[in-house]
Amino acid sequence: MAEHYIHGFSDEERRRLIAQAQMLSTPVFDGLDFSGAQSLLEVGCAVGAELHLIEQHAPQLALTGLDLSARHLRAAHAWLAQHERISLVQGEARTLPFPDDRFDIGITIWLLEHLDDAAAGIRELLRVVKPTGSVILTEVDNHSFGFDPPQPAILAWWDAFNRFQAELGGGDPYIGGRLRQIAESLGAEVQVETPRAVISSSDTTRNRADQLRYLRDLLESGAERMRAHGYATAEMQRAMATAFDRARLQPDIAFHYGAVRLICRKGYR
Ligand SMILES: C[S@@+](CC[C@H](N)C(=O)[O-])C[C@H]1O[C@@H](n2cnc3c(N)ncnc32)[C@H](O)[C@@H]1O
Repeated sequence: MAEHYIHGFSDEERRRLIAQAQMLSTPVFDGLDFSGAQSLLEVGCAVGAELHLIEQHAPQLALTGLDLSARHLRAAHAWLAQHERISLVQGEARTLPFPDDRFDIGITIWLLEHLDDAAAGIRELLRVVKPTGSVILTEVDNHSFGFDPPQPAILAWWDAFNRFQAELGGGDPYIGGRLRQIAESLGAEVQVETPRAVISSSDTTRNRADQLRYLRDLLESGAERMRAHGYATAEMQRAMATAFDRARLQPDIAFHYGAVRLICRKGYR
């Protein structure tokens, strides 16, 4: 996974993940109620950016974060050192090292798109969450990304980004649209499925330039690997940057990027 993980594990990626968690905290967390829960597992916790936010909103929770990347987990240890109720575990999402019915809440945020078998990841999360607990999956649907009027240089990069992720990364950048069907096929009882506007030029609560900066950083996070494997060129990257600069200066250029949030219970067949 490491070589073909599109975002990489650099310090720059660590900073991007922390900024991303703050920028997207409303679409990821609003409306969630953790008050009755005592334990939460985040699979794919990376550098702990989301755990840090969860800890602030629900300090009663004992938090566990699991990730495949030792480097990201080292960064998480440093970032979360002051929190006593967080444990971090290196492991694989498809074979979680926890017993059945261990957690009140199991959560993934921007993880399943990277798995070659997302169903196996969801099945494991359902296994380790209590029958009375909740599994909360917030995942991208990259079909939802777009500019109006279209920005061909950005879309060319986006197309290459998604192809890299599917072909070399082995993931599914369009997983959001299939989440409900996968969860139900595993016997989960879907309680709520909500489209989330991750980024939107019509969102006046967030600064337009900040939202575009977020999108540009997301797309550029794939640059090193995309270029190394022939999916993109320096010229494509320059053209994309120019298009982002234009979008920043022209408020009539609209943009949107969406995700899906699913809240489900284990369910019984
Ligand atoms: C885009 S990051 C999301 C991080 C975090 N949820 C957040 O929102 O900041 C995806 C994370 O999933 C991890 N990951 C990818 N495949 C994995 C797997 N099979 N098992 C566990 N973690 C995995 C990566 O190492 C990375 O840290």
